[in-house]
Amino acid sequence: MTSSELIQYQVKPGGSLTGEMIVPGDKSISHRSIMFGALANGTTNVSGFLEGEDSLATLKAFQNMGVDIIGPNNGRVTIEGVGMNGLNIPMHDLDLGNSGTSMRLMSGLLSAQNFQSTLIGDKSLSGRPMKRVIDPLNNMGAKISSNDGKAPLVLHGNSQLTAINYEMPMASAQVKSCVLLAGMYADGKTCVTEPGVTRDHTERMLETFQYPILKNENKVCIEGGHSLKACDIEVPADISSAAFFLVGASIAKDSNLLLKNVGINPTRDGVIEILRLMGANITFENERLFGAEPVADIRVKSSQLKGIKIPANLVPLAIDEFPVLFIAAACAEGETVLTDASELRVKESDRIQVMADGLDILGVGNQVTEDGIIIQGGNISGGEVESHDDHRISMAFAIAGLRAIDTIKINNCANVATSFPGFANKSRDIGLNITETN
Ligand code: S3P
Repeated sequence: MTSSELIQYQVKPGGSLTGEMIVPGDKSISHRSIMFGALANGTTNVSGFLEGEDSLATLKAFQNMGVDIIGPNNGRVTIEGVGMNGLNIPMHDLDLGNSGTSMRLMSGLLSAQNFQSTLIGDKSLSGRPMKRVIDPLNNMGAKISSNDGKAPLVLHGNSQLTAINYEMPMASAQVKSCVLLAGMYADGKTCVTEPGVTRDHTERMLETFQYPILKNENKVCIEGGHSLKACDIEVPADISSAAFFLVGASIAKDSNLLLKNVGINPTRDGVIEILRLMGANITFENERLFGAEPVADIRVKSSQLKGIKIPANLVPLAIDEFPVLFIAAACAEGETVLTDASELRVKESDRIQVMADGLDILGVGNQVTEDGIIIQGGNISGGEVESHDDHRISMAFAIAGLRAIDTIKINNCANVATSFPGFANKSRDIGLNITETN
């Protein structure tokens, strides 16, 4: 273990969140901008790119396959597209670090190439389920070897994929995107039907790169054999990173915070809907578009939250925001009930159990269920909690400090760099009493 892996956050109790802030670029959109930019004809210019470890893993993987990519430099990246069939055999295994999005999307894309590639990841990523992408890709004729459905994944390539009609067993944008990316190379029309709405950045970006797709309610279809046209992409600020402050400014007294340029794509805005149902004071200003993606400046003010039963249809729309929503629930009046959320158990950590363990340490009443959790609002004490190397767990417990009675220490926070470089400094600037030690 390196010393940086030992980063600990210490958050002193209290504080208000005020002023303005711009959180880093959207992770999902940053990944996709590299993938589509690399395969396009022409030069793609990206601004607002997330300079976090996850999206940088995708960037480096494409550089390893011979794509000329300059940056990131202040969020700017220039990609010289090589065309649909212009990738080179990677010089070595592609290390995707902690990033499930990179691994699942790239397995679709690389299964269709005329060369073999191997995808590896860190301990957490190597424990995450990949069968969910291997199964549909096998149906398309891909040849993939794995470690019993987990990474490393060897994508043997060298086979012409055939189109499929895929009914996804779980609501997953990564699986949907994987199949669509493979579908760009398949013979015929590939369709994916989703059981619940999931983020649609892949579909929006395909349209931006002028690749034809057909959308109809919960089904999206793509035909193989077309090309991508390079373009400019302006990445919105990540609503998943903004979520920490949507909750923080709601639970901290006397807060009034403006989060600028935040993506408010309706397939990602579940956190706002859930917080509003809990009584949060959140308003949109200056609504506009960054290309195909809606954005707004979001104002959030302190409010007394109340516990709710979270509607099941909102779960996939807020799938990455639950760690911090659990902190909102801990500060709410009454009980909050989450169901239909077993996907949380296969994220960077088992986010239901890991959050419950931390809430126990902080004296917050909770009961874990098979597919969710029940949280009793009340006081948050101080204590020392474990992040289990999960970025969103680290940041969620840091936000809990705003309402804690004593100092909260969070161990093993280096992983925050995967999605939110500079989290501690940016949070301190707007009023969180946070220090970072290693
Ligand atoms: C993502 C999809 C979601 C989300 C992840 C990013 C994407 O994963 O949790 O952080 O960019 O497509 P699932 O598809 O597993 O729900």
